[in-house]
Amino acid sequence: MTALTDRLDALWEKVRPFPVPEYRPDTPKIGGTGPLDPHLPPTAPTLGAAALSSEASSAVQETLASLTQNDDAKRGQYWHAMGRAKYGEHWRFADQLTTLWAASTLLQPSAYLEIGVCRARSAAIVASVRPQCAIYGFDLWVPDYAGGPNPGPEFVREELSRVGHQGTLVLESGDSRETLPAFLLGHPDLFFDVITVDGVKSVAGVASDYANALPRLKIGGIVVTDDLMLFPILRRIWNRVIERDDRYVNWEFRDAGFGVAAAVRVA
Ligand SMILES: C[S@@+](CC[C@H](N)C(=O)[O-])C[C@H]1O[C@@H](n2cnc3c(N)ncnc32)[C@H](O)[C@@H]1O
Repeated sequence: MTALTDRLDALWEKVRPFPVPEYRPDTPKIGGTGPLDPHLPPTAPTLGAAALSSEASSAVQETLASLTQNDDAKRGQYWHAMGRAKYGEHWRFADQLTTLWAASTLLQPSAYLEIGVCRARSAAIVASVRPQCAIYGFDLWVPDYAGGPNPGPEFVREELSRVGHQGTLVLESGDSRETLPAFLLGHPDLFFDVITVDGVKSVAGVASDYANALPRLKIGGIVVTDDLMLFPILRRIWNRVIERDDRYVNWEFRDAGFGVAAAVRVA
């Protein structure tokens, strides 16, 4: 019976319609309140320059060092430290963490959405740049995710307090395909400055996460995703949903590491 249910689930994953974001005309803009606060989204090269900067690399190393250590955190610090030791000021490398440092530094977000929080490394980067930022995290807390412990919401709260997070923290447990739309339905006026889509890696799952999350990205806001090298299909979905859409300007780094993509919503 279970085998049959699994096969039917797999079949439904293949044939279910590819969801697309339905954008809202009432989407707020970042800035634009006056001459001292113009609506001036960062260009894609600006975002890229910040993500590739040595400042980003140092900040990420520092934040990772302040979190509970595991192989992932140690690997991240080692990678940045080795690159700089070997290539000095010429070292250029970006990943999801340096890109989120860049997005947070450029935008100073007041609301951040992350789908796939895991051990809160990405959320900790945002919180370390902008401690007052409200963080909304959605995760299924898949046990032993990618071979490492995935302890859940209490652990995430502790990690974020280590980096001095002071803002609202909402953590919703369950499949983001269900929890995110349900949560957003109850918060019709909530929009985000920065969004990270880093949860489920199936085509239907990622497409559904984009479809649910992107209509809540402010104009001038930034969406980030990673693992493009590990899961090439993710790059195709990114291309279809974001890169080909004139609402966004796109930046990617795929030269090394897992590959990261980010886009600024400009319209
Ligand atoms: C790659 S990890 C996230 C890493 C995190 N963004 C970071 O930078 O540290 C992916 C996470 O997505 C979660 N996940 C997997 N499938 C999910 C689903 N359907 N809904 C919500 N979360 C899911 C896993 O439990 C895991 O914690």
